[in-house]
Amino acid sequence: MIGVFNLAVLALFAVGSFAGNNNQNPTEDDSLYEGKKWVVLVAGSKGWSNYRHQADICHAYQLIRSNGIPEENIITMMVDDIAYNKWNPKPGQIINKPKGPDVYNGVVIDYKGADVNKTNFLKIITGDQEAMESIGTGKVVKSGRHDKIFINFVDHGSTGILGFPDDFLYADELNDAFDSIYGNYKKILLYIEACEAGSMFDGILREDTNILAITASGPRESSYACYCGLDLFPVYTCLGDVFSVTWLEDLDEPKPDRSSKQRSIFNDFREVRTNVSKSNVMVYGDFDVGSKRLSSFIGYREYSDDVSLNVQKSSIKDTVSSREVYERAIQNQLANSKSLPESLKLSAELSQNNKMKSVIDSVLKNIYSEVVKARPDIKSKIGDYGKPSYLKLNLSVFPCYRSILNQITENCFSLPKNPYVLDKINIFANMCVVDNQIHQMMGNIIIKSCSDVPDNIVDVQ
Ligand SMILES: *[C@@H]1O[C@H](CO)[C@@H](O)[C@H](O)[C@H]1NC(C)=O
Ligand SMILES: *[C@@H]1O[C@H](CO)[C@@H](O)[C@H](O)[C@H]1NC(C)=O
Ligand SMILES: *[C@@H]1O[C@H](CO)[C@@H](O)[C@H](O)[C@H]1NC(C)=O
Repeated sequence: MIGVFNLAVLALFAVGSFAGNNNQNPTEDDSLYEGKKWVVLVAGSKGWSNYRHQADICHAYQLIRSNGIPEENIITMMVDDIAYNKWNPKPGQIINKPKGPDVYNGVVIDYKGADVNKTNFLKIITGDQEAMESIGTGKVVKSGRHDKIFINFVDHGSTGILGFPDDFLYADELNDAFDSIYGNYKKILLYIEACEAGSMFDGILREDTNILAITASGPRESSYACYCGLDLFPVYTCLGDVFSVTWLEDLDEPKPDRSSKQRSIFNDFREVRTNVSKSNVMVYGDFDVGSKRLSSFIGYREYSDDVSLNVQKSSIKDTVSSREVYERAIQNQLANSKSLPESLKLSAELSQNNKMKSVIDSVLKNIYSEVVKARPDIKSKIGDYGKPSYLKLNLSVFPCYRSILNQITENCFSLPKNPYVLDKINIFANMCVVDNQIHQMMGNIIIKSCSDVPDNIVDVQ
């Protein structure tokens, strides 16, 4: 924990002094040719309890469209099961704050349903048009060397991982994708909302490739949901996430002093970081990008006096750790349920979820114990199952880490389909940090530990 805190403070100072020099005058790019702006918006989850992720992404879409980025340069991935979800009190609408405007109307979703997966995402950002030809709208990032790319990803995450409904995106895979397009972009800016999002970049993203990542949280902390459990929303969910809502609401406000055009990325980062108190908003990668204007990635709106938007500054409240949203949702529905059959159904759902959680815990714990029994030398380094040490990742751990998680998914239960595991898997990353060949001796342990796992473990949250 100390490590994380120091890092956070360091990053703040580094940025503070750096941004200080550029405060008044963010440098615009030297080339005369501006290039195009590409925007990729991704909500990586599904289901009513994850309402907030698609709400954040729809909100980002509205902002970016009204900032003047043309539709053909925006690529949106979201499962699209919220607007017409049976629990939605306002069918066909999505809001991102209490009493807020509908942010769903007009959103062009390029990839929906099962098309929202890691493979497609990587093909989209690397411009693999041929591979995407018959999928969704087929749109991909066709960037050239003068172009800027903005990627906003919102979902669950874990150590070195961002979630998709059916698979995991690992940090090395994202990194390889960026390496493969080096030279085909001018700059890339990432805004990532997920738990432990910093672990996607810390010690991984290089400092000289014109890519900057801003994350909602550090490498080992939760990010936070907000606007949760409101009376106006009969079926509990959260309408937004703290980091996303903070940066978006701030830019929704018309700025009379042209600051929405002038603001540098680091100015934006500092503003957002100051106002997100639940987690540490972090920055990684190539700090040169941070001195550029945010508007050179996401456009801006000219301020006019007759702006009818009338944005009301609401304070961001009712926050809940992302990890707890699902369970609170069911408990809250149970408390408000007025029919006996419904109550019974909800209780059954809750108890099934709890039962499956304990199965998952006992399997993973058993794997841990067997590995530690075979390799007593690593125990003090990796920590306990329930209390893993904080070990920093680097690119060399991922083949091992991915192999362990794939073996568990193949032999026990799908890890990506059970968001509950996200909090439990960093112990396996630790094993690979200590010995990046350790996956080779784990096959039998995993098979044995999973020999009598029930086959109905899916969607345990
Ligand atoms: C991702 O989706 C595409 C269709 O959009 C499908 O062909 C592909 O198999 C999926 N990938 C995975 C790993 O499920
Ligand atoms: C951050 O907080 C300050 C002071 O509370 C407020 O004036 C400002 O508008 C907030 N900015 C954002 C981005 O919410
Ligand atoms: C990555 O981490 C491992 C384990 O901590 C270490 O042995 C290795 O030297 C590191 N590699 C790089 C490139 O930093």
